[in-house]
Amino acid sequence: MADLLTKLAYQTLQRGKSYFSLTHKALSYRLSSLLLESKTSDASISREVLHEIQQQFEQLLEVDWQDAKQGIYATDLLFQQDWQQFLPSYANVWLDLPRTWQRQHNKEYQVFSTDLDRSKYPQYYLQNFHYQTDGYLSDRSADLYDLQVDILFNGGADAMRRRILAPLKAVVMGWPRTAQPVKILDVACGTGRTLEFIHHTCPQASLYGIDLSSYYLRKANQSLSNIPGELPQLIQGNGEELPYVDNYFHVVTSTFLFHELPPKARQRVLAECWRVLKPEGTLILCDSIQAEDNPRLDPILSWFPRSFHEPYYNNYLKDNLERRLESIGFTENETRVYYMSKYWVAKKPRNDRSNGDEFKCVI
Ligand SMILES: C[S@@+](CC[C@H](N)C(=O)[O-])C[C@H]1O[C@@H](n2cnc3c(N)ncnc32)[C@H](O)[C@@H]1O
Repeated sequence: MADLLTKLAYQTLQRGKSYFSLTHKALSYRLSSLLLESKTSDASISREVLHEIQQQFEQLLEVDWQDAKQGIYATDLLFQQDWQQFLPSYANVWLDLPRTWQRQHNKEYQVFSTDLDRSKYPQYYLQNFHYQTDGYLSDRSADLYDLQVDILFNGGADAMRRRILAPLKAVVMGWPRTAQPVKILDVACGTGRTLEFIHHTCPQASLYGIDLSSYYLRKANQSLSNIPGELPQLIQGNGEELPYVDNYFHVVTSTFLFHELPPKARQRVLAECWRVLKPEGTLILCDSIQAEDNPRLDPILSWFPRSFHEPYYNNYLKDNLERRLESIGFTENETRVYYMSKYWVAKKPRNDRSNGDEFKCVI
């Protein structure tokens, strides 16, 4: 009975978030069209596609619920939401929207504060991804990010991030016990949402996070320091040059990074993940679904980069990440798709048959 009530509460919360997000998007689309007297890019999605998305969303909720019910993570995680912050953040999302629409209308993709030292970042990163004010490079952007992403995914962003937890926990539980805690790195950890879920799921593990944005890391530090236990070690840096020694981590994870990288950077990040993983360690990636995963969703996938300024997304859609992983030496590669997201679980074998620097760069 308690289970049934919890499941109902979870479904109600998620459906509420979904309706809320859809209403928000419809309202903001209308308002922007009205104010700018021009239509911003509309998805024109058919009923069939909407139905398909709805079904995929329900399946995501079901598998999320099942994982919690089986104890892979606590049911509390399903309700992990900072309600105190919700209203101020939502008000700020609206306050920021006119700037976003203006940039979208004027096709301005690289607008940053004049104080910003651009030399500290790779060129490909200096973009207003999603037309976000300041890109990833301000505290204001970091404050809005979680809510903006959740609205984009109709309330499903966290449920998608949690799909990495079952394979991650299997690796952690299967690793021979030693005095040393298992070490897990989250590459491009952003505001720390995924690290938070990992922390609750594997409380004994030592966690590490790296991201190019010190602003997002500051936000991550704020939320992660509220959780009891060892604080994850956060460091500002580029996933293409991880500042860790070889063979250090048992698991490396990354959520929603690869669609924002150009192909060469994707390959370099994967090669770095390989280098820092221990033999028999596992890489777990979560990102957007790709073109071949569900052709019925093509209208959405082609609309997304136009409306949200995602300059590398079209290339990502057709990028064969399985081939990249194999080219580096990963084995036992598995992929799964849930709702709008895709997962890669790949193992670094015991006998490191890495091609080292000689691996062919599949670009
Ligand atoms: C779409 S966000 C995903 C953040 C987080 N993983 C999540 O689940 O929400 C992309 C993140 O990647 C970071 N990023 C982009 N390129 C990077 C790179 N080369 N090295 C490290 N972080 C990078 C950005 O700063 C941003 O925080």
